Amino acid sequence: MERDYVLGTHEDELQRLGLQHYIWRPHALKCWNEVGITQGSKVLDIGAGPGYATVDLADIVGESGEVVGIERSSNYLQHLREKLADKPNVRSYEMDIMKDDIPEDDFDFSWCRWVNSFLPDPSVLVRKNYDALKTGGKAIFHEYVHYETWQFIPPSQPQEEFIQEVIKNWRETGSETNVAKTLPQLLVNQGFELEATNPLVFVIRPHDFMWHWPLSFVEINLARQLELGRIEKLWADSVMEAFETRTKDPNSVMITPMMLEIIAKKC
Ligand SMILES: C[S@@+](CC[C@H](N)C(=O)[O-])C[C@H]1O[C@@H](n2cnc3c(N)ncnc32)[C@H](O)[C@@H]1O
Repeated sequence: MERDYVLGTHEDELQRLGLQHYIWRPHALKCWNEVGITQGSKVLDIGAGPGYATVDLADIVGESGEVVGIERSSNYLQHLREKLADKPNVRSYEMDIMKDDIPEDDFDFSWCRWVNSFLPDPSVLVRKNYDALKTGGKAIFHEYVHYETWQFIPPSQPQEEFIQEVIKNWRETGSETNVAKTLPQLLVNQGFELEATNPLVFVIRPHDFMWHWPLSFVEINLARQLELGRIEKLWADSVMEAFETRTKDPNSVMITPMMLEIIAKKC
């Protein structure tokens, strides 16, 4: 049975995750390079989704390395397995990080992006992540730290209402959008040493590739919330219109929702 979550695991969302990965790929690659992921590394991809980052990690670690993807959605896992069918250095497991144990350990690195903000208790992930790493291994997170940074300049009321709706929606499922505010302390309490906490926030314009990151999220998210009967069509139209108007204006400016890159070492 498919195990859905607040954003859904339908085809449109799967495609959106692909676009999102290509937009964020340079930042992931830079981080992995700086942290030391290389040929021969053993990497755990936590909440791997449809496997877009998993493919890149598999190519980087090469035949002498290994990548293990863990993911709760069977739809996403099926996509991951199809994409990675020709890569013998990848294994994947269908599991719920809140309930199931990570079936392998001794990892050099773990990679976890946009997952903790969907969990009822990120401390469980932090503990299992710690146990899965070898001593000296590094955990890498890219998670939201201040979602409200996301705004147009000048501000737009429908866009601000949209953010509040997203945060409320996630909180109703028992999770916290700005999870990176709590992660550093959870990691330290678990026995990790913090190596880096780098902000990831951008000021973008409609001609920037990154503009399509928030834009595609709004399109897909509004359609899903409408389908679920959570929002009114009139309000959804006003949000979409605000985004379309700004997108058509080449002088528009947007600040992206602020993420935090956290690198923590297992002592
Ligand atoms: C926004 S997607 C991010 C996917 C991927 N990390 C990426 O960067 O493209 C969040 C992922 O977390 C997974 N997820 C959510 N809760 C989970 C849980 N309890 N155990 C395992 N995976 C979970 C979802 O199924 C989804 O694939």
